[in-house]
Amino acid sequence: MANQCNILVTGGAGYIGSHTVLELLNNNFTVVVIDNLGNAYKDEKAEKPECIIRVEKLANKSVIFEECDITDENSIEKIFEKYKFECIIHFAALKAVGESCQKPLEYYKTNVGGTINLLNVMKKNNVKKLIYSSSATVYGVPEKLPLTEDMKTGNCTNPYGRTKYIVEEILKDLCASDPDWSVISLRYFNPVGAHPSGEIGEDPNGIPNNLMPFIAQVAVGKREMLHVYGNDYDTPDGTGVRDYIHIMDLASGHVKAIIYQKTKNIKGFKAVNLGTGKGFSVLQMIKAFELASSKTIPYKIVERRPGDISSSYADASLANKELNWVSTKNIDDMCKDTWNWQKKYPQGFKSGSIQ
Ligand code: UFG
Repeated sequence: MANQCNILVTGGAGYIGSHTVLELLNNNFTVVVIDNLGNAYKDEKAEKPECIIRVEKLANKSVIFEECDITDENSIEKIFEKYKFECIIHFAALKAVGESCQKPLEYYKTNVGGTINLLNVMKKNNVKKLIYSSSATVYGVPEKLPLTEDMKTGNCTNPYGRTKYIVEEILKDLCASDPDWSVISLRYFNPVGAHPSGEIGEDPNGIPNNLMPFIAQVAVGKREMLHVYGNDYDTPDGTGVRDYIHIMDLASGHVKAIIYQKTKNIKGFKAVNLGTGKGFSVLQMIKAFELASSKTIPYKIVERRPGDISSSYADASLANKELNWVSTKNIDDMCKDTWNWQKKYPQGFKSGSIQ
């Protein structure tokens, strides 16, 4: 069996983390997950978060889970004393744009400080391969579309975005200081969808900030109607355009990145977009979801949301060329799989265990 090296996944009980862990197991990697359970449900009698239990059942393999907060460097050190890692995938972070404007220090502490803690421990243990969970938000307001990796970064519109940008700068400096480091920064566009089984998916805390989970909760009757933030953008129908990417495609991008890093012995800092290259408007997403769910999504047009940009979509050719990755799922798959998960588990992971 190839690929039997240990991968540490920080934030592995989150939405992107859990789907990536499943993809890693299916590709014969051995996985250790650390998570502080800040945004993941765990039954008090269970040893692992519910999403990890389900991932293990789907893969028929087990995952080592350790509760650990990346803001605590000592506890990360203990994990490195216990296990030997070849590569780290670093997801652990706070991610709500609006909240980041209210609580900037928490965002800088977790996203920037937490990453520095992790890098310190990696350095001490001579583990210098990292896959970093970055975001298209680092491009700020796009100067030109589609977005390519060589475009200017940093003109971010909120503290969350700035934490992602700052960490990328730190990683570039680190790679410049020591040629042994290998960092692939994956810049995600808009991850949506769920595993096709409907057993794992996005389980937002409280009112969803993002479009797709909000639409899904309207469809299932948890929320009355969707607010569409503005229809006066310079787009074909006036509503915001984004590059939505299926979570399973995103997960496979991480596995491809690890294989690329290892087999090609990649060194230094490399940023890679993960998107489909296609933009869809809010109204197009509503239509696609209505088709997939056979539900009507009531909506009303309201004011623009502060900090929103008009359009964003990727040039995904670098991921294709370098990582040998390509997105395979379309907008209908994204809506169908989101709906499957939402209607199977309307209360998310708290809805009950797998049968
Ligand atoms: N939208 C609505 N109503 C909602 C939610 C969203 O109309 O209730 C619209 C937004 O205005 C935007 C589109 O749907 O036009 C997508 O919004 P999301 O909140 O789903 O996604 P964003 O593109 O705003 O945010 C995503 C990530 C962030 C990241 C940001 C910038 O979720 O983490 O991209 O890259 F910071």
